[in-house]
Amino acid sequence: MKAFIEGMPKAELHVHLEGTLEPEHIFALAQRNNIELEYNTPEEVVAAYDFHDLPSFLKIYYAAMNVLCEEEDFYELTYQYFEKAAADKVVYCEPFFDPQGHTSRGVAFETIIKGIRRAQEDAAKNLDIESNLIMCFLRDMSAESAMEHLEMCLPYKDWIIGVGLDSDEKDNPPSKFEAVFARAREEGFKLTMHCDVNQKDIHGHIRECLDLIKVDRIDHGVNSLEDEELIQDIVDQGLGLTVCPVSNRFVVQSLTSNEIREMLNRGMKATVNSDDPAYFRAYMNDNFIALAEEGNFSQEDLVQLSRNAFDIAWLSDDKRQKYITKLEQYAAS
Ligand code: HPA
Ligand code: ZN
Repeated sequence: MKAFIEGMPKAELHVHLEGTLEPEHIFALAQRNNIELEYNTPEEVVAAYDFHDLPSFLKIYYAAMNVLCEEEDFYELTYQYFEKAAADKVVYCEPFFDPQGHTSRGVAFETIIKGIRRAQEDAAKNLDIESNLIMCFLRDMSAESAMEHLEMCLPYKDWIIGVGLDSDEKDNPPSKFEAVFARAREEGFKLTMHCDVNQKDIHGHIRECLDLIKVDRIDHGVNSLEDEELIQDIVDQGLGLTVCPVSNRFVVQSLTSNEIREMLNRGMKATVNSDDPAYFRAYMNDNFIALAEEGNFSQEDLVQLSRNAFDIAWLSDDKRQKYITKLEQYAAS
């Protein structure tokens, strides 16, 4: 099963580039950029990774990203993630980035996006991994700040396929960003939003994603299974859900394998993703392998999960078909 997973072509649709910042890299960048750290070794950093909910994770995530300053830093971050993803047979990726986590510290938007873009181009050439970038707004910041960043990104519109919404969900519902996402839609961006696991008002947040924002997919969205009407609408719309098993384990003490099984049974387009792999210490294959073990998933189930990701990816139909054919050939062999 492990070998089958390792060789299977995959798409990753829920990974925060800042969540791929490895402890050793935090140290190297801190030194290069003259930034003082609270820790003395990368091992001490990992020992401090004590997450049990979203806020406790975000605190460490935002503190660490302070070491990202120059275009080269964003290039290295992105390219090193692609190296790991390519080794995991990820052939297509739609990574998130959080510009407000950097512009708020005085890093220019141009610096961030140029570093990421150059890494995407080099990874396509050298690693044979194709990618399209998603810009996330931080939902615990204001709607005005989100709108400013939407306007800021317009000169680079061709480098961004969609917009998302992440960070602390408590009392930050989708409706807070209705105007921003309406404008993003007008500008031609695809739309997604986090509906994180077990958040306050989560069923209402998913409902707003469907009816008010009219998202093209939902990140996480596991709690939709607790509401028959949400399930029905998600199935009817063929809406994708980007589930992150190991990330979920930090909140619900399970890889949500029962929930993912239920989604497959109900015809919901569930996918497997790594979320913040440097923090949760699990990249794509680790997520698939742990999930297959906990949930006793068959090869057909795993192929279905991978197929769902290509199905819901923001790809042209001919590219989608190319990847699905590759996956089918692998499964048949
Ligand atoms: N949820 C919300 N915000 C985030 C996450 C997440 O899983 N990862 C990075 N920012
Ligand atoms: Zn996420």
